[in-house]
Amino acid sequence: MAIKILGIETSCDETAAGVVEDGRTLLSNVISSQAHLHSKYGGVVPEIASRQHVRDLVPVLEQASANAGVGLEEMDAIAVTFGPGLAGSLITGVNAAKAIAYSLGIPLIGVNHLEGHIYASWLGQGDLASDPGFPLACLVASGGHTDLLLMEGHGSYKLVGRSRDDAAGEAFDKAARILGLGFPGGPEIQRVSKGATGEETLPRAWMKDTLDFSFSGLKTALLHLAQDRGIYPAPEDGVDQERLIRELAAAFQESVVDVISSKLVEMAAKYRVKGLVLGGGVTANSRLREEIVRRSPFPVIIPPPILCTDNGAMIATCGYFQYLRGEQTPLDIDVDPGLLLG
Ligand code: KG4
Ligand code: ZN
Repeated sequence: MAIKILGIETSCDETAAGVVEDGRTLLSNVISSQAHLHSKYGGVVPEIASRQHVRDLVPVLEQASANAGVGLEEMDAIAVTFGPGLAGSLITGVNAAKAIAYSLGIPLIGVNHLEGHIYASWLGQGDLASDPGFPLACLVASGGHTDLLLMEGHGSYKLVGRSRDDAAGEAFDKAARILGLGFPGGPEIQRVSKGATGEETLPRAWMKDTLDFSFSGLKTALLHLAQDRGIYPAPEDGVDQERLIRELAAAFQESVVDVISSKLVEMAAKYRVKGLVLGGGVTANSRLREEIVRRSPFPVIIPPPILCTDNGAMIATCGYFQYLRGEQTPLDIDVDPGLLLG
């Protein structure tokens, strides 16, 4: 009998639920983004986020069940993100998951959001069909993390590199703000960078002899360059604003892509991995995907962009592998906003 798992994700500003069969077959994936509510603040406002999850979660769950053609009573388990993330946001999803699991008498499975991003690669067309085996070099690059993790088997990780300051996604969001672009910043930077000539460059923080990252200096360098070129804080008379935004956005993107792709490939060689796995919103970036594939001598597994950003299906898939190991979460579990992986 196929195992059907409902995955719930409310760690940040996406209210999401998905149904996955046997950890690999995507039956539904419903995502309600709150980006439009947070964009005027240039970042996620925690209280607005939790209250919107309260409004959206039941309709999203109903839609996920309907799209999958699987009633809640037919689910074998409920998987939910319990950390890391915003406490108030996590609580909405965890409490809903507890209520469903309790009322149906089925297992609750608490999932680490970062591990969920890794497991997106086991789903759908991005699946590990040509399974390279373990160990794998995993990059999780999101709004809150830039982690390099050595995955030695299902559920087994070693953190070997991380950002010492801003996460890559956070840096994209701050860079977009400097350039007067919308929120979230990553997709905006990618969009406006198209057609850049590469005439502007920004520094790279190599953090020599480590697999760690640092992106806060890059943000400051971008700010100074934007001031120098006369587009920050407001465009000066006579500057070609459109061209400068394009060139500066591209310079920023290239700097992030260069550092992340070279550290990931360096890590993969150091640990003699069988393949690379990418996850998290920043890995939706087309230049980053292209550059990692170009530089890697190892197979690269990348989920489609819609499964790189936050979603419930990846939580269901991750939950499936925990379910197979008999891991269940007690119904009195609390959220863990600072949860680590590896
Ligand atoms: O994984 P995610 O959806 O949520 C968190 O767990 O944080 O990642 C969100 C982050 C945001 O900072 C957003 O700007 C970034 O991912 N992002 C991108 C792209 N799409 C989303 N960054 C660069 N290029 C993109 N195409
Ligand atoms: Zn995420």
